[in-house]
Amino acid sequence: MKNKSLIYVFVAIFIVGGVYFILGRQTSIAPTHQTQESASVTSAPAQPDSTDCTENPTPSQTEGPYYKSGSPLRNNIAEGISGEILIITGYIYDKNCNPISNAWLDFWQADSNGVYDNARYRLRGHQFADEKGMYRLETIVPAQYGSRPAHIHVKVMPPNGPILTSQIYFPNDPKNQTDSIFNQELIMTVEASENVMQAEFNFVLNQ
Ligand SMILES: [Fe+2]
Repeated sequence: MKNKSLIYVFVAIFIVGGVYFILGRQTSIAPTHQTQESASVTSAPAQPDSTDCTENPTPSQTEGPYYKSGSPLRNNIAEGISGEILIITGYIYDKNCNPISNAWLDFWQADSNGVYDNARYRLRGHQFADEKGMYRLETIVPAQYGSRPAHIHVKVMPPNGPILTSQIYFPNDPKNQTDSIFNQELIMTVEASENVMQAEFNFVLNQ
C-alpha cells in the first residue's frame, strides 16, 4: 500500500515537472520568435513621414523591356532573396493633392546583381494602396546594370483611371548624371539605417 502511494507521488511529480518544462520552453521561445517577426514588420515606420504633394503629376517613363503582366499580389517582393533590405512607403494623390484610395501598383526590378527574372516573378509583385492612399513595398536594393542607375519600375493605376508607368531612383547614384532616361523628379527620399534602407516616394496622378 505504501509502495503504491509512493508510485502515485512519483507519477504526480513527473507529470507536474513535465508540464512546467513544456510551459517554460514555450515562454522562453515565444518572445524570441515574436521579436524576430516584429523586427521585420516594424523595421520601417507604419506610415510615411512625408505627405508632400507637389501638384506636379509624377512624370511617366518608358516601361523598358522587362515588364511581365500577371505578377503576384504581395507587398514583399523579395522573400528569400538576398540583398540590402529596402522598404518604400508613400501615398498616391490626384493632381489636387487629394489621396486616392485603393490604387493598383505593380513593381518590378533587377536583383542585387542587376539581373531581372524574366522567366518567373522574382522581384515582381502588385498591391493596392489602402483607403488613405498609402502603399508599402518591401524589397531589396537593386543594382545598376549596363548604363542604367539603380531604379525600380512601377505602374500605378487608380480605380477607373489610366495607368501611369514610371521608374523611381536613388539619390547619389553616379549614373543618374549620365543616364538618358533619368529624371530628377523621380528620386526617392532615402534614409539608410544599420540594417534597412527606408525610402519614401509619393505619386501624383494626372486626374
Ligand atoms: Fe530597368
